[in-house]
Amino acid sequence: MKVINLGNRHDASFYTACELFNQIERKPESKLGLATGGTMVDVYTHFVNLLKMNDVDVSKVETFNLDEYVGLSQTHPESYHQYMQNVLFDQYPFFTASCVHVPVGDAEDLDAEAERYEQLVQESGPADIQILGIGENGHIGFNEPGTSKKSKTRVVDLTESTIRANSRYFDNEDEVPKQAISMGLSTILSAKRIILLAFGEKKKAAITKLASGVEDADVPATILYEHPNVEIYVDDAAAPDDMGREV
Ligand code: F6R
Repeated sequence: MKVINLGNRHDASFYTACELFNQIERKPESKLGLATGGTMVDVYTHFVNLLKMNDVDVSKVETFNLDEYVGLSQTHPESYHQYMQNVLFDQYPFFTASCVHVPVGDAEDLDAEAERYEQLVQESGPADIQILGIGENGHIGFNEPGTSKKSKTRVVDLTESTIRANSRYFDNEDEVPKQAISMGLSTILSAKRIILLAFGEKKKAAITKLASGVEDADVPATILYEHPNVEIYVDDAAAPDDMGREV
């Protein structure tokens, strides 16, 4: 595993979109593990363009999102359901609704919903590609520092750092949900291939720790050392000073 500096957000996003596109071209019934957040916006823009230009049949593709905020309805503008509608499913409306999966953040029984989601992921089989962003604190999904590597989909408490970082998407910090339903680290590791992206100065510290070669529960992304097929692409601003190191 190695951190690769692709120079800029455009090229890393386009590369990732091409890989998602190629995956579907090779295998129309592919399973894609999807992420949300600012990092992924350009990936979906390029992906939608490729799908449109090539008139791709996505009816058999199954998608599984990593996480959803607790307490937000599916139509809340900052819910991850709504994010996915905006960036992908409304832009290329040929996915099969029953093949699109995002945890339900306003379920009456949240623990039962998390369990249902985990079971769905397991029964469906491993994602062919899982795309990941990374939090400033090194989280993947909403697996915050200290998360067990055996963790499965469950209700998680967001840390102060994540609430602060994500307040940029809300009117103010008080509106940021304090919990989420998130795939666990072991759920994420079940994917066949993982592509992690990080852009901007604010991600540099997390990427530097990820490039250190030391597995550390306080930097959840370092669990990725245990996966045989991980690619990490960053832009120049997020690249560690000490590039070129294999971990
Ligand atoms: C999103 C997710 C999170 C984000 C991370 C980075 O589904 O699971 O781990 O990838 O918080 O968020 P952005 O891209 O907004 O900086």
